Amino acid sequence: MKTLQVMRSLILLIHVVVCLLLIGGGDSRKVFKLSEEKSESESTFEYNAISCRAHSASLTDFGGVGDGKTSNTKAFQAAFNHLSQYSTQGGAQLYVPAGKYLTGSFNLISHFTLYLHKEAVLLASQDPQEWPVLKPLPSYGRGRDAPGGRYASLIFGTNLTDVVITGDNGTIDGQGEFWWNKFHSKKLQYTRPYLIEIMFSTNVQISHLTLLNSPSWNVHPIYSSNILVQGLTIIAPVRSPNTDGINPDSCTNVKIEDCYIVSGDDCVAVKSGWDQYGVSLGMPTKQLVIRRLTCVSPYSAAIALGSEMSGGIEDVRAEDIVAIDTESGVRIKTAVGRGGYVRDVYLRRMEMHTMKWAFTMSGDYGSHADDGYHKKAFPEIKGIHYRDVVADNVTMAAKLEGIAGHPFTGICMSNVTVGLAAKAKKQPWSCADIEGVASGVTPTPCDLLQCYTVMIRVRVMLLVVAVIFLWMLYQ
Ligand SMILES: *[C@@H]1O[C@H](CO)[C@@H](O)[C@H](O)[C@H]1NC(C)=O
Ligand SMILES: *[C@@H]1O[C@H](CO)[C@@H](O)[C@H](O)[C@H]1NC(C)=O
Ligand SMILES: *[C@@H]1O[C@H](CO)[C@@H](O)[C@H](O)[C@H]1NC(C)=O
Ligand SMILES: *[C@@H]1O[C@H](CO)[C@@H](O)[C@H](O)[C@H]1NC(C)=O
Repeated sequence: MKTLQVMRSLILLIHVVVCLLLIGGGDSRKVFKLSEEKSESESTFEYNAISCRAHSASLTDFGGVGDGKTSNTKAFQAAFNHLSQYSTQGGAQLYVPAGKYLTGSFNLISHFTLYLHKEAVLLASQDPQEWPVLKPLPSYGRGRDAPGGRYASLIFGTNLTDVVITGDNGTIDGQGEFWWNKFHSKKLQYTRPYLIEIMFSTNVQISHLTLLNSPSWNVHPIYSSNILVQGLTIIAPVRSPNTDGINPDSCTNVKIEDCYIVSGDDCVAVKSGWDQYGVSLGMPTKQLVIRRLTCVSPYSAAIALGSEMSGGIEDVRAEDIVAIDTESGVRIKTAVGRGGYVRDVYLRRMEMHTMKWAFTMSGDYGSHADDGYHKKAFPEIKGIHYRDVVADNVTMAAKLEGIAGHPFTGICMSNVTVGLAAKAKKQPWSCADIEGVASGVTPTPCDLLQCYTVMIRVRVMLLVVAVIFLWMLYQ
C-alpha cells in the first residue's frame, strides 16, 4: 500500500512538472527571445523624413483643379513626368492643396513624397476609362472578383524605392458605392481596384491620412519590404464588401501602428498568396509588427492571418489592440490546398468589447483560386501565443478548429479573461484538431488546451513504469 501511495505522489509530481515546463518553460522563453529580436530590428528601422525632399511642387502647377468635377489624372501624370528627373537629385514632393480633386489611377515614382493638405480630398473617379487593367498578381493566379485582370489601384506604385504617401490628415475617398453595387450585381469584368497598392518596392511610408469608402481593400503593400503604415483613419460602411483595412502581403519588415479602422472586412489581414500560385512564388510575410490598432468590424476580424497564406506567415507581433463590436479578435483562416504556414505569432495586451468570438482558427476556409490546388498541401499552423487579453460581452470565447490529421500545434494562451454576454453560447469553447496549453484562462478552456493529450501520454507511460516497478518489487 505504501508503495502505491509513493507511486501516486510521484505521478502527481511528474504531472505538475510537465505542465509547468510546457507553460512556463519552452513557450515563454521563445516569446521573450522573439520580442528582444523584434525590438532590435525596430531600432534599426529608418525612414526618410517626409519634409526632406530637395524639390517641391504643387499639383496646381501642372493644371490640377480642385472643383470635385474636373479629372486630375493628366495633371498627376504631368507632375510625375516632370518630378521624376529629381529622383537622383534629392527627390521631390508633390503637394496637393485644399480642394476636391477627382482622379483616376496614377503611378508613383521613386524618392518621392505625395503630401495632402488637411483639407485636400482625392476623389476616385467612377469612369472605368480612368482605370488601367493589370495582369493578375502572380501569387494569386487570378483576380479576386473575376478570373482575369484587375483594375490598377487609385494610387499605384511598382519597383520603387523611398516613397512616402502622407499629409496633414488629408483624405482619399474611393467613392466605393459605385464598385460595391457592381460587385453585388455581378457586373464586374475585372477585379475592383484597391485604394493604395505598392508592389516590388522598398522603404515605403503611408501615414497621416484618412481613407474613406475604398472600392475594395484599402492599403495593399505586396512583394515589398521596409513598410511603415502609421496614423491612418480608415472608414467604410460595415456592410461594404471586402473593404479590408491594411493587407501586408508577401512583405518583409512591416510596421503598422496608431491606426483607427472601421470596415466591412478584416481591419488588418496578413496574406501571402493563394494555393498553388502562392506556394510556387513562395514569398512569406514576416517580421510584422502591429500595435495600437483600434478596430470596429462587426462581420470580420480585427487581425486576420490568411486565408491566402500559401507563401507563409511568420514572426508576427501584435500589441495594444482594441476591438469593439467586431466578429473576432484574432482569426487564423486556412484550408487544405493552401500549403504554407503560420508560425511564431505573438499577441499581447488586447482589449475587446462586444465580440462574437475572441479567437478563431479555421482549417476549412475553402475558397480556392481554381481546381488546380494541391489536394495534399496541408498548411502548418504552429506557435500561436496570446496573452494579457481581456474581453467582455462575448458570445463564445473561442472556436479553434484545425485540420483532422494535421492539427494546429503550439497554441499557448495565458492570462486571458473572456467575459461572456448575457446571451452567450452554453459551450464557451469549441476545439478540434488543435494542441496547446492554457494558463490563467477564463472561462475554463477546452480539454485540448489543458495539457490533455500530453497528460494521457504521460499517464500511460507512468502506468507502464509503475507496473514494471511493482512487478520487480514483488519478484
Ligand atoms: C519589377 O520587379 C519585378 C521583380 O523584381 C520584376 O519581375 C518586374 O519585371 C519589374 N517590373 C518593372 C516594370 O520593372
Ligand atoms: C483625421 O481625420 C479623421 C476624419 O475626420 C478624424 O476622425 C481623425 O481623428 C483625424 N486624425 C487626426 C490625427 O487628427
Ligand atoms: C452586448 O452585445 C450585444 C450584441 O451582441 C449588444 O446588443 C449589447 O449592447 C452589448 N452590451 C454592452 C453592455 O455592450
Ligand atoms: C493580465 O492581463 C491584464 C490585462 O492585460 C494585465 O493588466 C495584467 O497585468 C496581466 N497579469 C499578469 C500577471 O501579467
